[in-house]
Amino acid sequence: MGFEAIADGYKGKELSQAQQVDSCGRCHARRRILADGFKPGDSFCDYMVPELLDTNSYYPDGQVHEEDFEYSSFLQAKMYTKGVRCADCHDPHTTLRKREGNKLCLECHEPRLNEFAHTMHQPDSEGARCERCHMPITTYMGRDPRLDHGFTIPTPELTVEMGIPNACNRCHADKDAQWSIVEIHGAHGPPRGVGRPASAGGRHGDQEPRGPDGPRPVGAPRRLP
Ligand code: HEC
Ligand code: HEC
Ligand code: HEC
Ligand code: HEC
Ligand code: HEC
Repeated sequence: MGFEAIADGYKGKELSQAQQVDSCGRCHARRRILADGFKPGDSFCDYMVPELLDTNSYYPDGQVHEEDFEYSSFLQAKMYTKGVRCADCHDPHTTLRKREGNKLCLECHEPRLNEFAHTMHQPDSEGARCERCHMPITTYMGRDPRLDHGFTIPTPELTVEMGIPNACNRCHADKDAQWSIVEIHGAHGPPRGVGRPASAGGRHGDQEPRGPDGPRPVGAPRRLP
């Protein structure tokens, strides 16, 4: 199916956030198909079973391990629970990103996050790109780069505790996780609780119920066309 046809699926329909994400996820998920005939507006789980996080396909903190595609990762992201959709970042007609560089994220996020105090790297450098830290890349079969759509917080503590990779040392391969912990601590203050993700990342026990329309983003006004 062409992308025009996929986008046409939305025309004249008021799809909720969950329905929109499901309509992309039906192809962009590691899943088992139960029934054919999915149409935009249908619910993913009526037709498919997504790969769940309690399998070896994911690291224990939910980061992608095997090639898991985007859907299940995004469903565990805090952004999903706050109403963000695939189409907030990707043009559904072209699949191209909607804005270049960090502007994509700064459409909703505060400008301070683009400053050295947050990014720890010179502005506009590779290390200062939001997605390099929050969507670490794994390349599958040597040619298939995939960004983790769980939008996690770099947590080198989990590398020390459990051997889970962290975003920093994917680039800083000549340093160890302890170095990254010290550097993050220096820039951002001490970690919030052991392992951080539950408190800092809001990954567990922090999920709001998924309403028919999903809650709209709060604290981050949507200024999208
Ligand atoms: C009918 C299946 C199908 C649907 C529905 C679908 N896609 Fe895709 N999409 C694909 C395939 C196949 C590819 C190419 C393989 C890949 O990169 O995973 C792709 C590629 C992409 C890419 C990467 C393009 C690139 O240049 O690397 C993005 C981004 C994307 N799709 C976003 C979306 C979004 C957003 C939606 C919902 C509005 C969506 N897709 C719905 C099948 C689909
Ligand atoms: C070099 C890595 C790195 C880069 C680049 C980076 N971040 Fe972060 N980000 C972090 C770390 C580390 C934390 C956790 C900070 C803490 O615990 O105080 C974080 C936390 C966050 C949070 C949640 C907590 C908060 O402070 O609001 C958001 C949202 C966020 N980053 C967005 C962004 C955006 C948007 C960009 C690009 C403009 C970006 N980040 C660039 C490392 C990075
Ligand atoms: C907050 C922004 C954001 C959201 C939301 C988002 N993506 Fe992405 N996605 C990106 C970025 C950034 C890339 C890197 C490629 C690029 O720059 O176009 C990417 C890459 C991709 C790719 C290329 C292969 C890969 O995994 O790297 C696909 C396919 C994709 N996204 C599909 C989706 C689908 C499906 C959804 C919803 C379930 C989604 N995205 C939600 C930002 C986002
Ligand atoms: C996309 C790759 C990339 C990621 C991810 C990344 N860095 Fe960097 N980092 C670089 C590059 C390249 C430089 C050297 C150029 C510069 O200063 O921007 C650098 C420089 C640094 C420096 C200053 C120079 C030094 O070696 O002492 C520190 C400190 C640093 N990074 C810490 C971190 C931490 C901590 C994280 C994770 C929160 C991180 N980086 C994530 C690529 C990256
Ligand atoms: C359409 C608006 C929108 C866009 C675009 C967007 N975000 Fe977000 N993001 C949000 C909202 C809303 C939250 C939840 C804020 C809250 O309630 O704490 C969030 C939260 C986050 C968090 C915190 C996750 C956590 O577990 O604490 C990170 C990291 C993040 N976003 C990264 C990004 C990155 C990287 C991009 C660009 C690739 C991006 N965002 C683009 C709206 C957006």
